[in-house]
Amino acid sequence: MLDVNTIRDQFERHYGIHPHLMVRAPGRVNLIGEHTDYNDGFVFPAAINRATYVAARPRDDNLVHVVAVDLGDEDEFALDRIERSAAHPWSDYIRGVAKGLLAAGHSLDGANLLITSDVPRGSGLSSSAALEVATGYAFQLLNRLNILGEELALLAQGAENSFVGVQSGIMDQFISALGRRDHALLLDCRDLSYRPVPLPPDAQIVVCDSHVERRLAGSAYNERRQECDEAVRLLKQWYPKILALRDVTVAQLHAHEGDLPELVCARARHVITENDRALRSVAALESGDVAAFGRLMNESHASLRDDYQVSIPEMDTLVAAAQRVPGCYGSRLTGAGFGGCTVSLVQAAAVTRFKADVAAAYQSATGRATTIYVCRASDGVGRALPE
Ligand code: GLA
Repeated sequence: MLDVNTIRDQFERHYGIHPHLMVRAPGRVNLIGEHTDYNDGFVFPAAINRATYVAARPRDDNLVHVVAVDLGDEDEFALDRIERSAAHPWSDYIRGVAKGLLAAGHSLDGANLLITSDVPRGSGLSSSAALEVATGYAFQLLNRLNILGEELALLAQGAENSFVGVQSGIMDQFISALGRRDHALLLDCRDLSYRPVPLPPDAQIVVCDSHVERRLAGSAYNERRQECDEAVRLLKQWYPKILALRDVTVAQLHAHEGDLPELVCARARHVITENDRALRSVAALESGDVAAFGRLMNESHASLRDDYQVSIPEMDTLVAAAQRVPGCYGSRLTGAGFGGCTVSLVQAAAVTRFKADVAAAYQSATGRATTIYVCRASDGVGRALPE
């Protein structure tokens, strides 16, 4: 956890005066339900105890000045003329959120911001969602806006979709805004209804970073979305009422697997079976069957690797090594894929051995080091300093 006193001192050094407020928004790990959010499906993420912090103070003009401590960089823009920044691409997340708030009819005053984070960047732990949600919440408090967590999540997603250009779903921003300590949220991405589910007290969420950097903005993510749209278009021939892959059952897909082009069929199979796994795994967890939950995590990884094809050999190595450790319930890639992190659910007593075994196996198979984070499910966005 970052130290709020240090962040306050950094703010004072830059701006010559103390911040008015400080907020934090967490990164996330998704336990199951991958690449289902933009198919109106189900996800089961938890917010983690790593977060992006924004210290802020209002200004009496319409400028937003931002210091990005971790990048050693600064940027400034005027609220009446928000465009993308080629010189400071990181600032697009902040610009996009401000623009979204204004477009939604909220009025904003200028602000001095200072940002720092311990969510690793580009690792698939949603550092960008944490930045968007933290920024949005800072603006909300500074300008005394009345915005619900769900609305904040949608605004932050909007910033990513339209301003940064990644067609991501709602999962990351939603859990960063609405996460609950010691719980994961079963979220229905169609109507945004959700249910917090307590995590087993004797199991730990262990994240392993492959250190292969993801390129979410790369074409592959948006390509998968198009393939899903194509699957819906084709499946409508037999099921005219479906709006998204969420509406197709496993049995309905099986009935027409032979009629679909192979690639589109594989993509649809992942999404449809993953929705089914997400619901079954949460039911297993709620009935105390952690082992069944873990087996479904393993199946999820196989489906992401073989049908959705978003894994890479390094992540497969991490997952296989994890699955071999006694006391590991299950392991899979988490987030968009193409690099980034895996998530494993591990018996508390087995974590030390897990870390040693997985690190050694990864090193010997790939020549790379992994960084392993034992995470605690945390609350969503909030104040980092009391008022
Ligand atoms: C990224 C996106 C999410 C989601 C996941 C895959 O994290 O931002 O919306 O689609 O990939 O499950």
